[in-house]
Amino acid sequence: MEIISAKPAHKLDIQHLHQQAFGAANGKEKGVAIGELVKSLLADPTAEPRHSLIAVEQDTVVGHVLFTRVHIEGAASNIAAQILAPLAVHPDFQAKGIGRKLIMTGLDALRKSKTQLVFVLGHPGYYPRCGFTPAGVCGFEAPYPIPAEHASAWMVQELMPGIIGTIKGKIRCAETLHQPEHWRE
Ligand SMILES: CC(C)(COP(=O)(O)OP(=O)(O)OC[C@H]1O[C@@H](n2cnc3c(N)ncnc32)[C@H](O)[C@@H]1OP(=O)(O)O)[C@@H](O)C(=O)NCCC(=O)NCCS
Repeated sequence: MEIISAKPAHKLDIQHLHQQAFGAANGKEKGVAIGELVKSLLADPTAEPRHSLIAVEQDTVVGHVLFTRVHIEGAASNIAAQILAPLAVHPDFQAKGIGRKLIMTGLDALRKSKTQLVFVLGHPGYYPRCGFTPAGVCGFEAPYPIPAEHASAWMVQELMPGIIGTIKGKIRCAETLHQPEHWRE
C-alpha cells in the first residue's frame, strides 16, 4: 500500500470510495452526499491550496484524505490554516492503519508547505491519536455552532509550535464546505 498525491484522473475513484465508506457506516444517502461533497471540493477554487492524498493498493484507491484552506475571521490574514475533511478508507481495508497513515502523511506535507494550523470535525476517539486536541477551548469557533455535547469533536492541531494561544476567531471554510448541512451530525 502506498500513499500518493491524488491526480485529476483519480477523481471518480475518490468519489466512489467516499460513497462506499460513508455509505457502509452511515447509510447510502450519506455516502452519496459525501461523495458529491468531495467532488465539489476538488473543483472549488476557494478550497485552494488543497492537499488530496490517496492510499493505493494494487492499483486500487482504498483510502483518501482531503485538506482544504480555511480562514480565521478576526486573525491576521497570513495565518496558513487548513481543515481535514473528509477522510475515508474502504470498508474492506479499515482498521489496518491506513486512515492514520493518510493523516500523518498529509500533516507532514502541510508542515513542509508551512501550514500553521489544521482543524477537523470528527470522532474525538480517533483524531487525538493523530495529535488533534479540542479547538473550542483554544478560542477557535467552528463555522456553525457545535452542540455542547459534541464540543470535543471540533479539534485543532498546530504544526508550528506556539501558534495556539496567540490567535483566535471563527473558522471560514471553502464555499462548498461552508454550508450548514456539513456541520450537523
Ligand atoms: C474512520 C476511518 C477513516 C478510519 O480509517 P481506518 O484506516 O479504519 O483507521 P485506522 O486503521 O487508522 O485506525 C483504526 C482504529 O480507529 C478506530 N476507529 C475507526 N473508526 C472510528 C470511529 N468512527 N470512531 C472512533 N474510533 C474509530 C478503530 O476502532 C481502530 O481502533 P484500534 O486501533 O484501537 O483497534 C474509516 O473507518 C472510515 O472510512 N469510516 C467511514 C467513513 C468515516 O466515518 N469517516 C470520517 C471519520 S470522522
